[in-house]
Amino acid sequence: MQQPHIASRVLPPGRRIRAPSEVVGNHGATRVGCVRVGHPALDCTFPKCLKSQRLIRLPGAAILVHMQILITGGAGFIGSHVADACLEAGHQVLVLDDLSSGRRGNVPAKATFVKGDIRDQGTVEGVVGEFKPDAICHQAAQTSVAVSTREPVRDAEINIVGTLHLLNAAVRQGVGHVVFASTGGAIYGEVPDGQRASLARAPVPISPYACSKFAVESYLTAYAHQSGLRSTVLRYANVYGPRQDPHGEAGVVAIFCQRLLAGDPIRVNAKKQEGDDGCIRDYVYIADVVRANMAALSGDLVQPMINVCSGAGTTTMQLAQTLKGLTSSSSAIGFGPKREGDVERSVLDPGEPPPLGASTPLSTGLEATVAWFRG
Ligand SMILES: NC(=O)c1ccc[n+]([C@@H]2O[C@H](COP(=O)([O-])OP(=O)(O)OC[C@H]3O[C@@H](n4cnc5c(N)ncnc54)[C@H](O)[C@@H]3O)[C@@H](O)[C@H]2O)c1
Repeated sequence: MQQPHIASRVLPPGRRIRAPSEVVGNHGATRVGCVRVGHPALDCTFPKCLKSQRLIRLPGAAILVHMQILITGGAGFIGSHVADACLEAGHQVLVLDDLSSGRRGNVPAKATFVKGDIRDQGTVEGVVGEFKPDAICHQAAQTSVAVSTREPVRDAEINIVGTLHLLNAAVRQGVGHVVFASTGGAIYGEVPDGQRASLARAPVPISPYACSKFAVESYLTAYAHQSGLRSTVLRYANVYGPRQDPHGEAGVVAIFCQRLLAGDPIRVNAKKQEGDDGCIRDYVYIADVVRANMAALSGDLVQPMINVCSGAGTTTMQLAQTLKGLTSSSSAIGFGPKREGDVERSVLDPGEPPPLGASTPLSTGLEATVAWFRG
């Protein structure tokens, strides 16, 4: 009969165990250790651990804890890349997505897929209760600033109320960690010329979308105090890369790539006056965003909040001309009016030193993106 082991250490979900002494419940000759991640203590018997599938194998002293990760919005652009990376790292993945903007084909074959809306409390409770994730990577959202200005109530229902359903379920089921996709591009409001928005800068949300993301960040602080729910907030700049939807209202790189390759005209929306070079944005490549999510999920990222960005500003016109060159397109570049809710300049500060190391150069990321859109 196996003797129960009492866990003596608390490990953040997915953290690499650096020494054999950190293993709680090392099952002798089999060299299988058991860690119930993110929980203060566990009565562990070997057969039960086997059944729970939360086993870690001990190749010498370094162990990767395999987790069960719920990825909301995993049929979308960013969520599907994170799902790929989680599976690659050996985690089990469940994707919850209503396919409102995501595509079923984006969900990796090895992931479990549930079509459902995070606004539906029963669906969320059911998924979290049955899957019992160690961590939730929350990417699902109404993602368009323009839509949020037209439909602020729908934006809040998805981005705030839907998220609260997840947080409540996470608390009820003892989920160890929530990683939240926030926005650095919208939350800081206008960033004056010559400056980069660091985490020290107080958010100035000027669109309902930015308000809803900032509200969730505040709720996460409240849930940490009330219920001890651990979270990491990733404030993404403007993300681009393969799989981004070129048909939405957001995602200028994807829109330009598709139109330039089709020979259709593209339009630079005004920063202030129609005909100017357009808004200034901090473009960050999808691989860097995936790295941020994986570092947060694995516990390698110690900061509770970071800007996920390049730290460099690019005008829409610079982007249009670079992509026109990369695609060798003959498309015309035209001009459009200023869009409601858009900030004029948004450039973020990655921090010193940047917690994720150097970001992918824009030229490298754009080349890879164009190659993907070429198919
Ligand atoms: N792409 C960017 O530049 C950027 C910048 C800052 C923040 N973000 C945030 O990153 C996250 C992912 O964005 P993305 O660019 O991959 O967008 P996306 O539209 O490709 O992905 C969002 C996914 O969420 C799903 N979804 C939407 N509403 C849902 C609901 N009610 N229930 C269940 N699923 C729902 C969609 O079907 C889609 O698959 C979002 O939270 C977004 O706000 C993105």
